[in-house]
Amino acid sequence: VPPHEQRMLKAHELLGKFYHHLLMNTNEGAGALDYVTSRGMAVESIRKFQIGYSLPEWDIAVKYLKQHGFSEGEMEQAGLIIKRENGEGYFDRFRNRLMFPLTDMKGNIVAFSARSLSEDDHPKYLNTPETPIFNKSSLLYNYYAARSEVRKQGFALLFEGFADVISADHAGVKNGTAVMGTSLTDKHIHLLRRLTDSVTICFDSDHAGIEAAYRAGLLLIQHGMETKVAMLPQGLDPDDYIQKYGAEKFRSDVVGNALAWTAFKLQYLRLDKNLQNEGERLKYIEEVMKELSTLGNPVERDLYTRQVAEEFSLSLEVLQDQLEKLVASQR
Ligand code: GTP
Ligand code: MN
Ligand code: MN
Ligand code: MN
Ligand code: MN
Repeated sequence: VPPHEQRMLKAHELLGKFYHHLLMNTNEGAGALDYVTSRGMAVESIRKFQIGYSLPEWDIAVKYLKQHGFSEGEMEQAGLIIKRENGEGYFDRFRNRLMFPLTDMKGNIVAFSARSLSEDDHPKYLNTPETPIFNKSSLLYNYYAARSEVRKQGFALLFEGFADVISADHAGVKNGTAVMGTSLTDKHIHLLRRLTDSVTICFDSDHAGIEAAYRAGLLLIQHGMETKVAMLPQGLDPDDYIQKYGAEKFRSDVVGNALAWTAFKLQYLRLDKNLQNEGERLKYIEEVMKELSTLGNPVERDLYTRQVAEEFSLSLEVLQDQLEKLVASQR
């Protein structure tokens, strides 16, 4: 690591500790601490993930890091402060927000994601921009801490957000990582593959989340990963689910019942269709058969074909015929 990057890491380490201290031990941080605890986050989680609070003042980080020997140029390059457009000096990027430190593969803090504390303070999450030490599309939240658990359990869980990772961790599911609101990338997959060849996606159960799960799954499959999708009731995210139904149910009903990729895909294909409508039902069955015809495993093909026959009261022979034709046409 070049010396100037080493110093950026040091600045993040110091500031991370400082933000955490402000949240845990000061009157100024009491409101933010109320907010996190009222969301159901445990004190052990706040400690483990070193969650912090940035004060509303304009130049706390500037002053704090100056005291520790950092120049404003260094802080700016690290994405921690911003140059004023008119007039002199710099101001803190993160003010009056809940601070989530982001760590690299070695566990060093390389960036922050900062959550607003009120509905009308936008954006909801403010991230460190790209810097020499931080690249959003190649960082998975909690990767460093989850590594050994992923290896031990033989699969990684992939969430959309920090809150989900932290809730799951507290619920005893410690092999979770998260893409941070971005699409899953090749780089993310290469990181995961160092630990496992099996990933269970557990994204938010809203339109955006389901679409993102589908895209992430396709990329994982392309990379030859065993891919499953853990589904949640409509409208919930994993954090919501755990708060509502508890750790036990999350482990057994959500993670434990994760769908194999093909099963998820069959669910996905019916999402925007009204299967009461005959035309749409036929279209769905056609799409399913096309999908099944691409499966390499004949047992898997047979299993799902039987399911379709049963669900729609169709003749198994007819479906099998059609499947064979589709398979033959792909040769
Ligand atoms: P909470 O509302 O705090 O529970 O967050 P969440 O994790 O449920 O957020 P959401 O499902 O809306 O988004 C998932 C992830 O996308 C978050 O963890 C963030 O990393 C990212 N994200 C969400 N909103 C924003 C935003 O306004 N800006 C940026 N840069 N990222 C965001
Ligand atoms: Mn690749
Ligand atoms: Mn979401
Ligand atoms: Mn969410
Ligand atoms: Mn949430």
